[in-house]
Amino acid sequence: MTADFAPLLSVQDLVVDYRLARKVRFRALKGVSISVGAGECVGLVGESGSGKSTLGRALLGLTPVESGRITFDGQDITHTRGAARRRLANDIQVVFQDPYGSLDPTMTVGEVLAQPLQVAGTTRAQARATVAEMLDRVRLPADSVHRYPSEFSGGQRQRIAIARALVRKPRLIVCDEPVSALDLTTQATILELFIDLQRETGVSYLFVSHDLGVVRRVCHRVSVMYHGEIVESGPTQTVTHEPSHPYTRRLLLAAPVADPARQAERRAAWLGLRDSA
Ligand SMILES: Nc1ncnc2c1ncn2[C@@H]1O[C@H](COP(=O)(O)OP(=O)(O)O)[C@@H](O)[C@H]1O
Ligand SMILES: [Mg+2]
Repeated sequence: MTADFAPLLSVQDLVVDYRLARKVRFRALKGVSISVGAGECVGLVGESGSGKSTLGRALLGLTPVESGRITFDGQDITHTRGAARRRLANDIQVVFQDPYGSLDPTMTVGEVLAQPLQVAGTTRAQARATVAEMLDRVRLPADSVHRYPSEFSGGQRQRIAIARALVRKPRLIVCDEPVSALDLTTQATILELFIDLQRETGVSYLFVSHDLGVVRRVCHRVSVMYHGEIVESGPTQTVTHEPSHPYTRRLLLAAPVADPARQAERRAAWLGLRDSA
C-alpha cells in the first residue's frame, strides 16, 4: 500500500472454487492478495478468464470463498451474508461492463436511482434530493429522472449506472470492465468522470480491466492477474511501462497503439515473447 492512502480493503490469500459437477471443482482464485486504500484506485488487469470478475464477486459476497480473508475497514467480511451483507451495500457498490443489461428497462432513471435509497429506508423527499445531486455529479440533466434507460446512449447509460452505485455514498466501488463496451471517445470521457468523482468524493475503486491502457489513465497501483494468481503488483507507472513479469509484458505489447509502424514493431515483439513464454 502506498503511504498516502489509509487501508480500507484488504484481501489475503483468497481461494475460490467453482463446482462444475459432483466432486469436480475448478479453482478460479488460487490464493489472491490485494489491497485498496481510502481514496485509492487499484487496477486489476488480466486476460479474459483470468479470474478478475470472480474476485469482484467474492468481494460483493456473490460467490463463496474456500479460504483466505477479506477485510473491509478492519472488519472480516469474508463470509458476511444476509442482513449484514445488505448493510455492507452502503459501503461497497459495483459498476458492471454492460450498461444495457444492468439497468431495468421498465423503470425511469428516477426510479432506478431512488430504489437503493428506498431499500435503505430514506424518506421520499430526501431520496429526490439525493437523486438530483447524483445526476448532477455524473453530469446528466436533471430532467433525466422522467426518462427511461432506452432513451440514452451507451455512455449516458454508464453514467446512470455510476450514479446508481454512488447514491448510497459508498466507500468502495468495484468497477468491472466499466468502459469496455464503449467506443474510444466515450471511454475517455467516462474515465475522466471516474477520476473527477474520486477527487470529489474520496471513494476508492477496484478497477477491473483487460486493457492496460485504460488502467494507466485512472489507477494509482496495478495488480496483474494470470490464471487465478496475481503475478505482478506495483505503481501504475512501473507495471505499465517496465513490467517485470513476462505475462505483463505480453499484455502491454498486445495493447493497440495508434501508429501503424510502431504497431508492426510491437506485434513482432509480441509474437517473439509469445513463442518464448
Ligand atoms: N459460475 C461459474 N462456474 C464455473 N466456472 C466459472 C464460473 N464463472 C467463471 N468461471 C470460470 O472461472 C474463470 C475465471 O472467470 P472470470 O472471473 O469471469 O474471469 P475474468 O473476469 O478475468 O474474465 C474462467 O475460467 C471461467 O470460465
Ligand atoms: Mg470479467
